[in-house]
Amino acid sequence: MPSVPSSFDILGSRSGAVAVIEVPDELALYEKEIAAAIQAVHKNIKSVLSKDSGREGEYRLRSLRLIAGNPDTEVIHKESGCSFKLDPKVTYFSTRESTERERLAEMVRPGEDVLVMFSGVSPIAVCIAKRHPDVTVTAIEINPQAHGYAVENVKLNKVADRVTPILGDVRDVCPSLNKVFDRVLMPLPKGAHMFLDVAVSMVRLGGVLHFYHWAPEDDLYSEAQRMVVEAASETGRRAEFSGGVKVSLYSPYIYKVRVDMVIH
Ligand SMILES: C[S@@+](CC[C@H](N)C(=O)[O-])C[C@H]1O[C@@H](n2cnc3c(N)ncnc32)[C@H](O)[C@@H]1O
Repeated sequence: MPSVPSSFDILGSRSGAVAVIEVPDELALYEKEIAAAIQAVHKNIKSVLSKDSGREGEYRLRSLRLIAGNPDTEVIHKESGCSFKLDPKVTYFSTRESTERERLAEMVRPGEDVLVMFSGVSPIAVCIAKRHPDVTVTAIEINPQAHGYAVENVKLNKVADRVTPILGDVRDVCPSLNKVFDRVLMPLPKGAHMFLDVAVSMVRLGGVLHFYHWAPEDDLYSEAQRMVVEAASETGRRAEFSGGVKVSLYSPYIYKVRVDMVIH
């Protein structure tokens, strides 16, 4: 059977995990057998969920249907010395972005004050704060359940004194902070460009804006770069490209990309 899913995402740890699989239409009748086979091999998998849609809506959630196991799909996912409590049914989380989280933490300099917009259960904020003991992070998220997990995660990782999760829409929360940051992250490839006006004004002069976008493989960074340059010039600033990264493949020939822009 060539189309049996050979790879799937496992969220959680040895003490309890959830598998998220994509069952091809032609194997739909065998989904329970597939789930049983996965659970037989991975004894820590308590639930098997089927991806029944792409990521949708403001909260960027998939429709995930329980095929087998425990309907309680909350897990503690472990990665690079961090622990993230979450439920994939109600919050965004991608195990495939661990390398990107590491790359971001690597770029942060000692003593920085960082803003993570669209912060989800706060994996980026926690990863940065764990790596840098003198860095402070503010994390803004609109999904109340994701924010609830973020509050738990900063405690779980012992960074609650330096990471402040805030529940709300970045458009409302950012102006109320009345400050600027050394580094601002915008990890929302679908639609981050609509918040560039807010984001640019949150970066101190000489600071860095990390902007995420989707782009075709033959021209990865031009459009993202142009969007930030235009938003900056509308607020009387100048944005300078300092780097770009292909984060992941989104669909055939389309990549999720990040551009790093210095704001002057
Ligand atoms: C692609 S997910 C990334 C989450 C997190 N940064 C991560 O890496 O796991 C984007 C997140 O932005 C949140 N979001 C969408 N619009 C928002 C807004 N206007 N203000 C704050 N958060 C928002 C969604 O609920 C979602 O959790």
